[in-house]
Amino acid sequence: MLDVFVFLAGSFLFHQVLVSRHCLSSSMSISGAAVGSGRNFRRAVEFGKTHVVRPKGKHQATIVWLHGLGDNGSSWSQILETLPLPNIKWICPTAPSQPISLFGGFPSTAWFDVVDINENGPDDMEGLDVAAAHVANLLSNEPADIKLGVGGFSMGAATSLYSATCFALGKYGNGNPYPINLSAVIGLSGWLPCAKTLAGKLEEEQIKNRAASLPIVVCHGKGDDVVPFKFGEKSSKALLSNGFKKVTFKPYTQLGHHTIPQEMDELCAWLTSTLALEG
Ligand SMILES: *[C@@H]1O[C@H](CO)[C@@H](O)[C@H](O)[C@H]1NC(C)=O
Ligand SMILES: *[C@@H]1O[C@H](CO)[C@@H](O)[C@H](O)[C@H]1NC(C)=O
Repeated sequence: MLDVFVFLAGSFLFHQVLVSRHCLSSSMSISGAAVGSGRNFRRAVEFGKTHVVRPKGKHQATIVWLHGLGDNGSSWSQILETLPLPNIKWICPTAPSQPISLFGGFPSTAWFDVVDINENGPDDMEGLDVAAAHVANLLSNEPADIKLGVGGFSMGAATSLYSATCFALGKYGNGNPYPINLSAVIGLSGWLPCAKTLAGKLEEEQIKNRAASLPIVVCHGKGDDVVPFKFGEKSSKALLSNGFKKVTFKPYTQLGHHTIPQEMDELCAWLTSTLALEG
């Protein structure tokens, strides 16, 4: 569950690489071309294993949950399975293993490339679009009466918040149409990619309405030494100042770059009320 950043040095990274190779050999192949024939999609992407947590009660909502850098869908599915949310089906995909600039090109499971954890750093738009499209594809098979959501931790949270902007704009960064309706977006210990380029893009009436009505919760620990607290705080402010009206920001005083039961409890309460779950 911890990001691999924390363990940059030493054998852990090599362990992660072996794990990633293993994932690749048993993975299903989904090409980035599934997004459409946009000229920007040259990357061949191979996602790892997807873990599904089935609802224990009446199925009312499906949420795709995205792990952090170097992690996998299995570790989060084990946490989500324990939550008192019987109406939610969780889909936990595993990111493709790809070279990470931050690691000098060393491969790791990641939703997009990271050059630097820095709000002025370049955004890997192509990678973000491929990841956001993978999420939308996973959700597009759900029955019409099921509410859809996306959430994640760290770079998974970044991908989720990016998906929120794609939903509002009605299109991916590359211009292809965004195909699903989102009812909830969750970002834990992450950031909003492309925050600076949002300004002025959300003015058309339909776009404004989608942004205003989408519930988003952003949680961040004040003791986060991997993705600074101010990134989470600034991201929620950027969403609010660009017309997202249902943004809840939750700071946690004692929290580092991980999660705690209090945060999970509050997330459960937020999801239960936001999605009007029966329990
Ligand atoms: C998934 O990640 C966890 C660490 O978060 C690790 O312990 C486990 O071995 C990984 N599993 C697979 C199948 O890669
Ligand atoms: C999304 O919601 C809009 C407005 O309610 C509706 O017109 C559209 O058909 C929905 N799209 C999908 C894919 O469900």
